[in-house]
Amino acid sequence: MGSRCNLNDMDANGAKDHSSVQPSLSWREFQFQHKAQVSKHPAYPRILQMGLLDDTAFHLDVGCSTGTDLRKLAGDGWSAERLIGVDLEQAWIDLGYKQYRDRATCDIKFVAGDICHDDLLQPIGQLARDGSNILDKTASDDLVHSNVRCISVFSFFHLFDEAGQLELARRLGSLLSNKPGSTIYGAHRGRATAGRAEKTRIGDIYCHSPSSWTSLWQERVFPESSGISVQVDVDFRDGPEDKDIDRVMVWSVTIA
Ligand SMILES: C[S@@+](CC[C@H](N)C(=O)[O-])C[C@H]1O[C@@H](n2cnc3c(N)ncnc32)[C@H](O)[C@@H]1O
Repeated sequence: MGSRCNLNDMDANGAKDHSSVQPSLSWREFQFQHKAQVSKHPAYPRILQMGLLDDTAFHLDVGCSTGTDLRKLAGDGWSAERLIGVDLEQAWIDLGYKQYRDRATCDIKFVAGDICHDDLLQPIGQLARDGSNILDKTASDDLVHSNVRCISVFSFFHLFDEAGQLELARRLGSLLSNKPGSTIYGAHRGRATAGRAEKTRIGDIYCHSPSSWTSLWQERVFPESSGISVQVDVDFRDGPEDKDIDRVMVWSVTIA
């Protein structure tokens, strides 16, 4: 039997266990945060095509939480064996299995760990090379990352300060295949003018603007000296609370 990942069969009682992972989150907030976001992204049709046309392509979701976006990708045609989710908290990954009742049948690869930590790069590389489970491998192989054609990163970058965002962007850039069309895409808080935003709903955060975000990728992650050029698209939208500080950048970075 093929992989079965149950996006459309959520066990509401299982999902309500979210309070044991993050007690401060209300059930309403949890439901809002845990709706699939990938499919609303303008790059999504192209991302789906890549999964269908390139059967060596892997897709990584960073800060995947309960794995809702990955299950959406699997439901829409990406082979689950070529989907990898990384989250700091094993508890979110376990909650995903519980709420979607698919631990025994879902072939998406989930890895618990800190994306900022070098220890995580090798397991991701191993998974993306041949799809085998990290638990079956020794940790001696070199990092191989050239099959990661897509990286999604939603509601994540704004968790880091300015220096941390640059470091994270460089890290994701180094994991991405340099084949034309390979894409990093996502959405997070932004401002018309880059800088610190204080007392937002999620605390004090550093926000890029569409222009500083574009420069970060084109000049600092993939500078001319890298020999790789990227197209950066940023759509600037009102956020859920429609305030100056509550705007969202929906963006993608694509290898030209
Ligand atoms: C705001 S949630 C976003 C979840 C999901 N991407 C979404 O859009 O609904 C951020 C997630 O990133 C995870 N996280 C935070 N820091 C991380 C890190 N350094 N490495 C991996 N995951 C991290 C958290 O555990 C949490 O599940």
